[in-house]
Amino acid sequence: MAAKAAMGEVKSGMRIGLGTGSTAKHFVDFLGAEVANGFECLCVPTSEVTAAQARSLNIPLTSLDEIDALDVTVDGADEIDEARQLIKGGGGALLREKIVAAASAKMIVIADTSKMVSTLGAFPLPIEVNKFGLGATQNLVQSILDRFKAEGGLALRMDSESKPFVTDGGHFILDASFGRISDAKALSTALLDIPGVVQHGLFIDMCEKAYLASPDGVVTLDGKA
Ligand code: A5P
Repeated sequence: MAAKAAMGEVKSGMRIGLGTGSTAKHFVDFLGAEVANGFECLCVPTSEVTAAQARSLNIPLTSLDEIDALDVTVDGADEIDEARQLIKGGGGALLREKIVAAASAKMIVIADTSKMVSTLGAFPLPIEVNKFGLGATQNLVQSILDRFKAEGGLALRMDSESKPFVTDGGHFILDASFGRISDAKALSTALLDIPGVVQHGLFIDMCEKAYLASPDGVVTLDGKA
């Protein structure tokens, strides 16, 4: 339902960022159906998984090397608060998702209302780190958890074969259980100050509008009264 509502945000001829995850997958399916009917677009996928799905639907793809700006990105989220601040990266695609969202005139989030929170942080914050110096980086990230009074710990994300999960960019992910993130901007700055941190899943002031599906219909969150 949310993915269908977000189709109203795209017009033929647009350059579109394609998100990653089970909700974004529905949007890509809807877009593929439109493309089969003659809808024109040029898209940048946020993961290899989304790229493969888009290719299978004959959605024209490009990269941010070929074009440097997009009209809109439609992506999912793991948590969203009233101010449309997000935690993303549960699927491990946060780095490309953030690069693509930042290159877009607007970012539209699609999710269901179970992703709405009053305070971010119950969902463990994904932190993408360089493989080099993992132990040292982990110590520095832990010191940030201590400083920001995290309620839980830090875990290296593992894949289904119990090996460290590796992102499309070739990095590891540390999942940080804060419980409550009271100052997302300060936390963002502190994490990005660590040399081994590539990016984190806090998307601050990036989401312009969210379509949130509930059993009663789709709720729009756009900051307008
Ligand atoms: C991918 O890395 C994530 O940021 C996803 O956008 C997020 O995890 C939402 O995924 P679902 O729509 O599958 O819940």
